[in-house]
Amino acid sequence: MSGALLSCRDVAVEFPVAGRVLRAVDGVDLDVEPATTVAVVGESGCGKSTLARAIMGLGPVSRGSIKLEGKELVGLTPRQLRPLRPAVQMVFQNPFGSLNPRLTVGRIVEEPLFVQGIGDRASRRARVRELLEMVGLDAGSEQQFPHQFSGGQRQRIAIARALALSPKLIVCDEPVSALDVSVQAQVLNLLVRLQRDLGIAYLFISHDLSVVRHLAHRTVVMYLGRIVARSSHRSFWKAPLHPYVLALRDATPTMDGLLNAAKPATLVEGEVPSALDPPPGCRFSTRCPYALDHCRAVYPELRAVSDVESVACHRVEISNDGRIRTPWGVETSVAERSGTLGARLDPVPAL
Ligand SMILES: Nc1ncnc2c1ncn2[C@@H]1O[C@H](COP(=O)(O)OP(=O)(O)O)[C@@H](O)[C@H]1O
Ligand code: SF4
Ligand SMILES: [Mg+2]
Repeated sequence: MSGALLSCRDVAVEFPVAGRVLRAVDGVDLDVEPATTVAVVGESGCGKSTLARAIMGLGPVSRGSIKLEGKELVGLTPRQLRPLRPAVQMVFQNPFGSLNPRLTVGRIVEEPLFVQGIGDRASRRARVRELLEMVGLDAGSEQQFPHQFSGGQRQRIAIARALALSPKLIVCDEPVSALDVSVQAQVLNLLVRLQRDLGIAYLFISHDLSVVRHLAHRTVVMYLGRIVARSSHRSFWKAPLHPYVLALRDATPTMDGLLNAAKPATLVEGEVPSALDPPPGCRFSTRCPYALDHCRAVYPELRAVSDVESVACHRVEISNDGRIRTPWGVETSVAERSGTLGARLDPVPAL
């Protein structure tokens, strides 16, 4: 897609494991446009973190291209990457592990400015105070240490640090997964507000769809290292065009429901096969209630359904007149699925 901030093409990450090759990420195409949120979802082990680390230059890339504003990142040395660093920052799942316990919050948030040689001590301190205020932390927080804060506040500190260099993109890897649901909603609201005020794009990784539904403009679903579906978030929820997406959706309570103590999410039935030994043909075929012999033999390539949607499933029928039919009862049309790129599904519950 033109105008993308981040553009990944055929990205693969392979690890040697016991004399074999584990394809953790296996040919991923992904675009993130400015000021939008692209969610990457899928069960644990499908390759989300490996993809994030590859994008951040923190992990290996075996094949493919990762471009930031048109500049190729794959193959750059750490020294060549350094001037590009400010544009992309990362927030991790565990705010304990990612914040140095021996440094004050002020030093933690100042560090990226210091490393990039930006400003003098006084101007950096002023910027730190501004950043802490932006993420809703009290004046005076900069004198304290990470252990003096709750999990949600620590994640705010991590977000303040990620904002220090005015990034265009923040890669968030399960940033609220370790937090209580009510605290999750507060941090998600903060991310939405920061996007609105600062125009930041997010690549938001989560195994939890109840989180993603409040944030994403577009959603990419991974299964065993590959993308199986990509769509605007609204189409994704209303009428899934892939059995795995359907199963994930139906297993996901809304955040409102979780806040009101509704049942927790149940997993999609069946075990995820080993990434070392994925099934032939469609990788979801061992768990798919709609699998045919053809599915078990031939891998379904990702097909474009509309300008904003692609799907890797043999059983999605698209007729010449643009009607779409699936065996799980979705009847829609190419026209209905088009042009919904900017649509968020619903806001984060206000708390
Ligand atoms: N350094 C590594 N060496 C070998 N296998 C790895 C390594 N990192 C990740 N993997 C494997 O790659 C797959 C994807 O892992 P990961 O990206 O962490 O998944 P997710 O973040 O979606 O839970 C898993 O099968 C995992 O065991
Ligand atoms: S290709 Fe076949 S096995 Fe794979 S998701 Fe579609 S129906 Fe299920
Ligand atoms: Mg992960």
